[in-house]
Amino acid sequence: MIRVTRRYRFSASHRLHADALTESENRKLYGKCNNPYGHGHNYEIEVSVRGPVDERSGRVVDLRTLDQLVERQVLRPFDHQNMNADIAAFHGVVPTTENLAGEIYRRLEAGWKSTFRAEWPRLEKIRIAETQRNIFEISGP
Ligand code: NI
Repeated sequence: MIRVTRRYRFSASHRLHADALTESENRKLYGKCNNPYGHGHNYEIEVSVRGPVDERSGRVVDLRTLDQLVERQVLRPFDHQNMNADIAAFHGVVPTTENLAGEIYRRLEAGWKSTFRAEWPRLEKIRIAETQRNIFEISGP
C-alpha cells in the first residue's frame, strides 16, 4: 500500500459566530474571529489517498482524476466565497476549520465512488492548514 498526498489551495472568508449564543458570549468565545464582517484565509488542503500500485500504470491514483474531483466538489464551490453566506452546510453551523474539514471530507466521499469506480484508491485523510500555525486533520466521516 502506498499513500499519495496532493496539495490544493483556495481562499475563503468566514465569521465565527454561534447562533445559540448571545453577542457578548460570541465575542468572548471567538474574540476577533467574531468581527461582524468576517475575515479571510488562504487555506491549504492536502488530500491523502491510499491504495495498491496498479500493475499496468505503476500508479496508485490518477492525479488528473483526483484534481477533477477536488476541483468540482471543493475548489469551485469554496474559492472566494463567504462560507457563512454561500455554503449551505454552514447555515446554522459555525464555519470553523474543524467543521470545514468535515464538510470537505463529506464532499469528496460523496463523489468518490462515481469518480474512481473501483475498490482502490480510497480517501484516507484530509489535512487543512488555515494559517501557518493552525492545522487540522480528519481521517473519517
Ligand atoms: Ni478565521
